[in-house]
Amino acid sequence: MNGLPDFLNRTPHEWMDGVIPLFAPDADSLYDRRSATVDIYTGIAYGHLLFGETAAEPLYTRMVSLVKDGQPRRVLDIGCGPGRIVYDCAPLMLESEFACVDISREMARRAWEILVQGREMALPAWEYRGRPGVAFSRVLRQKNVWVAQADALDLPFHAGSFDVVLGALVLCRVRDPLRALVEMLRVLAPGGRLVLATPFAFNDSGLWERFWPGVKLRDYLTGFGVEVDYWEEGVEYEEVIDANGNSHRYRVTVCGARKSG
Ligand SMILES: C[S@@+](CC[C@H](N)C(=O)[O-])C[C@H]1O[C@@H](n2cnc3c(N)ncnc32)[C@H](O)[C@@H]1O
Repeated sequence: MNGLPDFLNRTPHEWMDGVIPLFAPDADSLYDRRSATVDIYTGIAYGHLLFGETAAEPLYTRMVSLVKDGQPRRVLDIGCGPGRIVYDCAPLMLESEFACVDISREMARRAWEILVQGREMALPAWEYRGRPGVAFSRVLRQKNVWVAQADALDLPFHAGSFDVVLGALVLCRVRDPLRALVEMLRVLAPGGRLVLATPFAFNDSGLWERFWPGVKLRDYLTGFGVEVDYWEEGVEYEEVIDANGNSHRYRVTVCGARKSG
């Protein structure tokens, strides 16, 4: 599926490895500055397969079940990272098409390698976390997945293209969360489902003020005319970062909302 699908509203600026379109090639991403970060994050997102870690699972399980609900025809994962949620969904939903975008070239490349190319990989960065010799072999070759590098604040898609738009742990990483929400809702089809997960862990005091407590996010969504039909606060999500089980622990709010039809 990595040609140019009909949901695109523009052509890419460049291509990476000849297969991954770049729509925001000048973007500066944290994950592209340090090469080990993508390997570490791959180990966190797929910790259940690589290390038998279950600390991230309560969140991913909820996200997967919200995405699968209603057998959507087209799903967009924004800020897909190494593609964990689509990894769980795409093999079970062969009638559905999945588009994955991330602002980081290296994350987009990693999602492509795992979901589409099926390239087994070593994750040497884990050696410095007390876990030597880690290799990821349970990769996929999904024909129903398309991956691109793009910015959540300027999505390269026609309005109303997707039945589900998903953003997991990304809203508090973007410069302008409100604009990201507007973009997500623009590309969502009437009657489609927005699925969000956020720990509200902003780096900016202004964003804390505008978006926290979580009821403010709910109010923005209601103000945009979407009906919030799933709201769960305090979902435990833990990023286990080394062999000793040291971790970053988050309390995540999970939200499902329906755009009016
Ligand atoms: C914490 S990771 C979450 C990855 C994935 N959604 C998951 O739950 O496993 C946040 C991701 O959002 C991406 N991201 C940050 N800002 C973005 C933006 N403006 N547009 C698209 N992706 C962005 C990052 O590059 C990173 O891959």
